[in-house]
Amino acid sequence: MAGRRTILDFLEMKRRGEKIVMLTSYDYIFTKILDEAGIDGILVGDSLGMVVMGYETTLPVSMEDMLHHVEAVVNARPKALVVADMPFMSYEASDEDALYNASKFIKIGADAVKLEGGLEIARKVKMLVNAGIPVMGHIGLNPQRIRRLGRYRFVGRSEEEARYLLDSAKALEEAGAFSIVLELVYSDVAKEITSSLDIPTIGIGSGPHCDGQILVVHDMLGLTPFKLSFVKRYLEMYTLAKEAIEKYIDEVRRGEFPGPEHYR
Ligand code: KIV
Repeated sequence: MAGRRTILDFLEMKRRGEKIVMLTSYDYIFTKILDEAGIDGILVGDSLGMVVMGYETTLPVSMEDMLHHVEAVVNARPKALVVADMPFMSYEASDEDALYNASKFIKIGADAVKLEGGLEIARKVKMLVNAGIPVMGHIGLNPQRIRRLGRYRFVGRSEEEARYLLDSAKALEEAGAFSIVLELVYSDVAKEITSSLDIPTIGIGSGPHCDGQILVVHDMLGLTPFKLSFVKRYLEMYTLAKEAIEKYIDEVRRGEFPGPEHYR
C-alpha cells in the first residue's frame, strides 16, 4: 500500500477480509519502528498515563499530555493511520469541548480521534463526523469509567451487557464511526458484533473474530512488569534493557568503557 493510510483503507481491508493490525505508540522512535515493521494503524492511547507517566489509571491524563505525545508520533511521519485518544473529560461536558479538543488533534496531524463509550455518545460522534473529524469508537471495557466499574474485567456475559454492546456498536456505526475498538469483550459477543457491522472491529482481549487486533506496545514487548492474560509478550524488553544497563554500569565502574574505539 503506497502513501499514508486513510480510514478508507481500513474499510476496504474489512471488505477484503484482511486483518488490520494496530499497536499503541507514544513517541518518535517507537513510531519509526512500528511503521518500518509495517503496522496498519497507530493509536496514541491514553494508556500513556499508565505506561509512560506511571499513573494508576488513565484518568489524570490531560489534553496537554495527549497533544505532546501525538506530536512526537506524527513527527515520525508514519505511513500508518494515526488515531489520537480523547482523554477523560475532554469530550463529555459539551459539544463545544468535544469539537474544540478533537480538532486540536487533527490540526497537529492525527488522522482520527477515539472516544470511549457506546449508545450514550453516538450523538456526539455524529457531530464530530459531520464536522469532518474521523472517529474510532471504543466499547466493552472503558478504562475511563473505572471508578464506576470498580475493577477491570471482561464485558458482555449477561444478556443485558451483550445487548448494550450490540446496540452501541450499531449506533456508533450509524453515527459515522469508521471502526470500533472492542476491549475485553467475550469472544462470542465480539464475533456477533463484528459480523453485524460494515465497519471494522479492532479487538483487544476480545478473541480472534474481530477484523483487527491492537495491543499496548509496552505490554507486547514485555516492558511492563505485570503480565496480562490477553497479551502475548513477544519480547522481555524490561529484563533485556535492565541487563544491558547493568553491564554498562559494571563496565564504567571497572574502567572497561569507554574503550579505545570510543574516543580519539
Ligand atoms: O489507551 C489505549 O491504549 C487504548 C487501547 C487499549 C485500545 O485505548
